[in-house]
Formats: sequence, structure tokens, C-alpha cells
Amino acid sequence: MTAVVRPLVPANIAGLAPYEPGKPIEEVERELGITGVVKLASNENPLGPSALAVAAAAAVIGKVSLYPDGGSHYLKAGLAGRLGLGVTPRELVVGSGSSEIIEGLVRTFCTPADEVLTFACSFVMYPIVCQAQGVPMVEAPLGEHFSYDVDALLARVTPRTKLVFLANPNNPTGTYLGRVGLTRLVRELPPGIILALDEAYREYVTAPDFVDGLALRGLRDRLVVMRTFSKIYGLAGLRCGYGVMTPELAGFLDRMRMPFNVTTVAQAGALAALGDEEHVARSREVNRAGMVQLGEGLGKLGLGVLPSQGNFVLVDLGAGREANVVFQRMLKKGVIVRSMAAYKLPSHIRITVGARAENERLLGALAECLG
Ligand SMILES: Cc1ncc(COP(=O)(O)O)c(C=O)c1O
Repeated sequence: MTAVVRPLVPANIAGLAPYEPGKPIEEVERELGITGVVKLASNENPLGPSALAVAAAAAVIGKVSLYPDGGSHYLKAGLAGRLGLGVTPRELVVGSGSSEIIEGLVRTFCTPADEVLTFACSFVMYPIVCQAQGVPMVEAPLGEHFSYDVDALLARVTPRTKLVFLANPNNPTGTYLGRVGLTRLVRELPPGIILALDEAYREYVTAPDFVDGLALRGLRDRLVVMRTFSKIYGLAGLRCGYGVMTPELAGFLDRMRMPFNVTTVAQAGALAALGDEEHVARSREVNRAGMVQLGEGLGKLGLGVLPSQGNFVLVDLGAGREANVVFQRMLKKGVIVRSMAAYKLPSHIRITVGARAENERLLGALAECLG
């Protein structure tokens, strides 16, 4: 079969390594014949979704014989009201997760003659999407301690650079670019280039010098800010994210996307989640407390933890310890983490900050697996 189809597949598609998601709990339980598995692998919200979002999603399930609102009218109105900073519905594009916005930017604006620029060791969807579209991707190296180096990025701009992805904060490192660096990038990147700021973890950020990309819209026309309902809002399974950009950019993305890309259930759930400030505040607090707990626990195990502005930590297991091996051992103990070997970090794992009991379970399992 493969041999028959293979000649039809363009080289860029044939060479794609499929995105490897964190293993689902049910799959691990089935494979290992165990129960009570804890998943701290995909940066999901340990509190789950807001009860208001669940109720709103359930309330519209009876309407799903009809196609959704293709323009996400009420969600866009709700977002514009909630985001402030003068954001209007015309500046918004809603996607089936922010991954769809990421893909849409490459599909809409880039050709194989262009280049997409980003940093090494960043969100894995950027290179996957570029390869799928046959668009070359250039990676600037990170600086010391996985820091963002604006000079290194600017030095890799060429006349072919069309789009820059900057995850702020970054996944998987949890590092970020502060006000001074980001403002400089927004100003100094040649104006023809689209700068896409991926703020999937923005709601978790506590760093005082972090600047909201939305506040920099006045400095640059070709600026896109992407956010998601998959993280602090706890709606990863509903698939809903959005991008803020000029109405002109939004118009082109809208032409490329599928007409009914965001389901009725997702639109209703996301809109209700947006209004549940208490759930967001609790989620932030659980994350803050969990970050302290993991920092102390991992420190006692003698492991290096990078300070993180997200809901996850990048952990250096130490030279000689293979992340893939530790990942497998942890799995057998019913704890799913993420090996960073695919990110060219063979001795690092990424751990999502869980609820107190989950973090305890993780620390116990990790101590046994390292021992
Ligand atoms: C940096 C970053 N951007 C975007 C996403 C995509 O999230 P979603 O497609 O679920 O909105 C993720 C998910 O892990 C992420 O880490």
C-alpha cells in the first residue's frame, strides 16, 4: 500500500514527523492495565474547565443539527469587551485552537520562496506547519539559560523572511521576552514582516516586566497576538483559540479558514469561560502554589529547574540521565510527563504544574525513577 501511494506524496509531506501529543490517560491505563494515571504532559489545567463553561456548552448541544456561526459573532464581541486595549471584533480571528491561527498564518501569507523565522527550542507546531506547507524555517539560537536573544533573531532576518513566530512565554522553556526586548523587536523587525506573538500562556505570567503584545499594536501594523482557551481556561478539548490583528490581516486569514472551523459548543463554552473570573483566579493560584511545591520538591531531588512564566517547568535531569528512559519509567508508575528528547534536549523533561496531590505523586515517582 505504502509503495503505491508514496510516489504521490510531495517530499515535504512525506518527510513530516507527525505531531506527538502527550499520551492520553485512557491509553496509558489500557496499555499498562493500571488505573489512577496522572497526566502532567500537555500543559492542561488541573482544575478542569469552568463550571459556567461546561453549563454553557451543554446548553447548546441540542442545537448542533445547525451549522455554527461561522463568524463567531458573540465570542468576538465578548473577547473585544474582555480584552480591552481598544480591541474590536474586526481585529479578531477565531480558530479551532490557536494552532489553527498558527497554521493559517503560514498557509495564507507564505510560499516556498519565503522564510519563517523563530527561535530554536520553541513550540513544535511552528516547524511542523512550515514543513507541511513547504516553507523553509530558520531558527535563531537561544542565549544563556534558554533566554531570548533579540540580536540573534534580528541577525537571521533576510529579504525572504515573511513571518516571525515568537512564543511569549516560550513552551517548553517557560522563559519570556520582557518589555525592553519585545518593544525593540516590534520596532526593529523590518516593517514588511509579520510578527506573530504566541501568548498561549499569557494569563499565567507574573513577571512585572512582561508586556502584553496587545499593548504594542500601535507600534506595528504587521503584528498578530495569539491566545488560546486551552490553557488557563481549561478547554483544550473544545478547541478554541484566537488571533488579534489588523482587520486587513484578519480578512485574509478569514478567506483561508474553513467556514465552520469553530463549533457551536466551543463558541458557547469559550464565551462563558471568559466571564468566569473566579475560575481564572483559582487556576492562577493553583499554578502559583504548584510551582512553589514543584520547585522545592525538584530542588530536593537535586534537579535544575528553569524559572517559568507558564504552567509547566523544564527540568534538567543531569547529564547521563536519558529523558526518554525516565519518561518510560514514570509511565509505568502511572505518571505521564513529556520527554524533551525531540527538542534536542535529551536530558530534559517538561512537567505540567498539577494540583497538590498530583505534584506529590509526580515527585514521589520521579524520586524512585531517578534512584
Ligand atoms: C506556545 C503554544 N502555542 C500554541 C499552543 C496551541 O494551543 P491550542 O491549539 O490548543 O490553542 C500551545 C499548546 O500547547 C503552545 O504551547
